Amino acid sequence: LAANIIYLDRNESNYGPAPKCFEVIKHIDLTILCQYSRDFKKQIKGELSKRLAADYGLNEDQIILGYGSEDLLKQIVHCYLNKGEILFIPRYSWWYYKALAAEVEGTSIEFPLYADDNSYYYDVESLLNMYHARKPKLVLISSPNNPTGNSIEVDELKNIIKHMKDSIIILDEAYAMFKNPDYSYVSDLIKEYDNLIILRTFSKYFALAGIRIGFALIGRELKIFEKFSSRYLGYNRLTELIALAALDSPEYYSRITQKINSDKLMFIEEFNKLSGFKPYKSDANFILVEMNKELIPELKEYLAERGLIIKFMNEEELNSHMRITIGTQEENKKLMDAIKKFMLVTA
Ligand SMILES: Cc1ncc(COP(=O)(O)O)c(C=O)c1O
Repeated sequence: LAANIIYLDRNESNYGPAPKCFEVIKHIDLTILCQYSRDFKKQIKGELSKRLAADYGLNEDQIILGYGSEDLLKQIVHCYLNKGEILFIPRYSWWYYKALAAEVEGTSIEFPLYADDNSYYYDVESLLNMYHARKPKLVLISSPNNPTGNSIEVDELKNIIKHMKDSIIILDEAYAMFKNPDYSYVSDLIKEYDNLIILRTFSKYFALAGIRIGFALIGRELKIFEKFSSRYLGYNRLTELIALAALDSPEYYSRITQKINSDKLMFIEEFNKLSGFKPYKSDANFILVEMNKELIPELKEYLAERGLIIKFMNEEELNSHMRITIGTQEENKKLMDAIKKFMLVTA
């Protein structure tokens, strides 16, 4: 393997966090490290949940902090899903959803997504039909969805949720800021639907996957989850400060997102020029590309030898696809050049 490995396989952001985040670390007050926060005395979970509540126009008790959205998802499933109960998930989605249902001996049932030549879509009609037939306890919708990259429009979402009053709806928005940094619709949704949980994270858009921080915005009916997730001794104070610094750096993130989005278009154009590849439209910081399945083992090895790691999908019905995380401009160019060269030598 090459010494300098470029990871484009886990949808991280290789530009790294905003400079203000590094300033926090450089000037850390040591009491932050040796003492609990005592924020509970102010009847808040922490300074970060207070800030997020203000930004999102919600009450602080509707913001739940977690060790990444991974942890929040796990807590939600463990809190609400009992043995034998049903969790609905998109047919192609993050493998972890299924694993979580299995952890509590619940049943995950996949609802369909469909694709045309350029994009995947949610199939609202099929989802609603299945919903009425199977009556799941939890419904998980991911937007933009990993690995397909498609998202659901707010109107479609409302149309879905209004038919699902007897269930808890989880909207995983880990990648939503790449599509739309304006999140004003989020508080409208949370205020309108008491059974809705929206999950967001600092891992992707804010390039802070390593500090493990995510948050849930919860509807008013979900008080049980608030209690389930409460942490008497507070949260990671350093992590909270770094996340606050990221929220104070909108220009930086908007700048790197422009680069990510323009490179996403570059990949789509380049793959469309090569024969045998079909890239799908994506609203996230990755793209899914269908290719000749026979070439996958060789391409994987060819890229790994050059220190380039991307994700080759290996799931039933999704096994002739690669998912490429959009890295820095330099990394993206290296990857695209390598794939073009590979095609020249194997053709
Ligand atoms: C759809 C989706 N949700 C959530 C996560 C987890 O993010 P984190 O736990 O870092 O917040 C991921 C990570 O890849 C993801 O793809």
